[in-house]
Amino acid sequence: MTITIEELNGTNCKTYLLSAGGEAALVDPVRDRFDTYKLVLGARDLRLVMLLETHLHADHLMLGRAEKEALGAPVVMHEESPSPLVDRHVLGGAEITLGGEIIEVLHTPGHTPDSVCYRVSGAVLTGDTLLIGGSGRCDFPGGDAGAQYDAVTQQLFTLPDATVVFPAHDYKGNTSSTIGVEKRTNPRFSGRTRAEYVELMAHLGLPFPAKIQESLQVNQSGFEAVDVGFPQIADVAALPAWSAVEVFARLRSSAPPLLLDVREPEEFVGELGHVAGSYLVPLDALEHRLPKLAGYVDRDLVVVCRAGARSASAGAILERAGFHRVFNLTGGMLAWHAAGLPVQR
Ligand SMILES: [Fe+2]
Repeated sequence: MTITIEELNGTNCKTYLLSAGGEAALVDPVRDRFDTYKLVLGARDLRLVMLLETHLHADHLMLGRAEKEALGAPVVMHEESPSPLVDRHVLGGAEITLGGEIIEVLHTPGHTPDSVCYRVSGAVLTGDTLLIGGSGRCDFPGGDAGAQYDAVTQQLFTLPDATVVFPAHDYKGNTSSTIGVEKRTNPRFSGRTRAEYVELMAHLGLPFPAKIQESLQVNQSGFEAVDVGFPQIADVAALPAWSAVEVFARLRSSAPPLLLDVREPEEFVGELGHVAGSYLVPLDALEHRLPKLAGYVDRDLVVVCRAGARSASAGAILERAGFHRVFNLTGGMLAWHAAGLPVQR
């Protein structure tokens, strides 16, 4: 038996239905298509057992809390996903079971730090890591063209040539390719060194995706735009940042910053813990708590979350409210852990 793969959207932006033994998974479901997915699952008598994301998307709304609850299936994403809506974090090499069949996770950072590909029954779902005749852009925060080149050439291009490639996007009407064809003909990689690829990707000059303002911060935070009042993307991107080591040093100085942790309460006391002395203000409560922070308008404030994405939004909200010295903890609590710094739970 193998896992059946079917694309459901018929648009530039692709969602795959994986099914085996009566069980189903949706890969990269798009919120707009939620009703269609429910109809398809019902019509096929499939039991949805998981929602797999290839990465945190910037170009469309992912399923929100309400849709996720209605489907009743856990969300699977890479450890470095910034989203609080993830139920199962995976690392490269992880194996996920669907209807008794194995889906292998490949960690392929570059487009985003949390990009993964899913290897399924002679095929590979490549997300935005490898597109047909292309590759996903690397110019968003956390993007890394060198890492992407390594992931494609060392992980994807070493799969058997006959492996079928299903990307998360295609703008030319293609539906699939193979590893062999991409290895020979993909103009981004064919005959190009790592340095040449990095140079190429640094000069694509692409505009922001049309829906980035409406979708990215919603996807990163799990909150709806009306509940938070998200700042402009350009302001978020411009927020100054400190590394985990720098924040730790400043906490021990004579004028320590206030650490504002904008995650959910369960994350604050969860697996990653929090920095001792930090103040928990979930992102959707920030606007209401601003008066309590008035004493910090001219003092150093460090915003903290899981991966540094939600906190960047929080920091831009604080700047918008007139706070002058706001810094993002680069990479969030994941980076704090990676630096081996102490945590409280
Ligand atoms: Fe993407």
